[in-house]
Amino acid sequence: MRDSQLIIATAPAKVILTGEHFVVHGQPALAAAVDIYSKVTVKSNVPKNIEITSSALAITCKFSIKELRKKSNLISNDEVVEPLKYIVEKVLRKAGQIDHGLKIKIDSKIPVGVGLGSSASTAVSTTLAVAQYLNLKLTKNEVFDIASIQEKLIHKKPSGIDCTTATYGGVIFFKIGKDPEYLAPNDSIKIVVGDTQSKRSTGDLVTKVTKRVTKGDGEIHTISDSAGKLTMEAVKSYRERDFENLGKLMNTNHKFLQKIGVSTILLDKLVNAAQQAGALGAKLTGAGGGGCMIALCYPEDKHKVAKAIENAGGRSYIVSIDTTGVKSESLST
Ligand code: PMV
Repeated sequence: MRDSQLIIATAPAKVILTGEHFVVHGQPALAAAVDIYSKVTVKSNVPKNIEITSSALAITCKFSIKELRKKSNLISNDEVVEPLKYIVEKVLRKAGQIDHGLKIKIDSKIPVGVGLGSSASTAVSTTLAVAQYLNLKLTKNEVFDIASIQEKLIHKKPSGIDCTTATYGGVIFFKIGKDPEYLAPNDSIKIVVGDTQSKRSTGDLVTKVTKRVTKGDGEIHTISDSAGKLTMEAVKSYRERDFENLGKLMNTNHKFLQKIGVSTILLDKLVNAAQQAGALGAKLTGAGGGGCMIALCYPEDKHKVAKAIENAGGRSYIVSIDTTGVKSESLST
């Protein structure tokens, strides 16, 4: 790539329609990539120097290639920077250009730490942007493999659902160990996201639920089995465009998540507000403990549902399905 050129890559956020947490323990889940994006710009830097900046993620860090695998002393956000350093090094090595200097700027519109897959999306867009800048052709599967390390470092025991949606886009039927299945997206239904704006750690919440599973807690095993069956029915409903049934299943899924202790008073309040305002169904999305909920509704009800979420104390986003996943473009400056 010439010094006057830059690469921009974007990757979508995600919502989980059914099955979070239980998916970590082998049950299926239904997720969708949505049109809120992380955007990563890569351009040239002096040789052997890497700079990563992001006002959204509160990162300003500079380090030499030698320091790539060491903890940087200039960082303000280790959990975000360390996986990105790993990704950059991996792609530089794969391209055979370990001495190449890079300036990497992250402009994410995805709220951070609230269950919309912000870190996975950033990892995926960073992987593709750096690879494209170095003229390294990666398949989406290779982008996924490199970016997935980020989730493993941050979330400890991830299912891989976040990186899958960010890489491939679309509506995805997901189960660990199986190839994801893509469902034809449908515009006759809308998703409204409600953000409690309360950040939490996915890793901690997954660990809390996992402890109960590994202790052999009978209640959680029963709920997990029911959640797996619920997702199978949700996939059937989505395929058959039976959104009223899908909404009901989402309401039930929220109750399961309440039972395993990952909902909060504010999440329940936003879910209730959306249901009262005419949503077909509503539930928390992602790890819970704060973060976001989603509501499924007919297009004509989306503003009413969004307003109800706002009135109940949340921040609302009306989203559409992203069908592309990660993509990049090259610009000349
Ligand atoms: O990172 P979050 O909050 O979007 O949660 C991801 C969904 C979980 O099922 C809780 C974890 C996982 O890796 O699947």
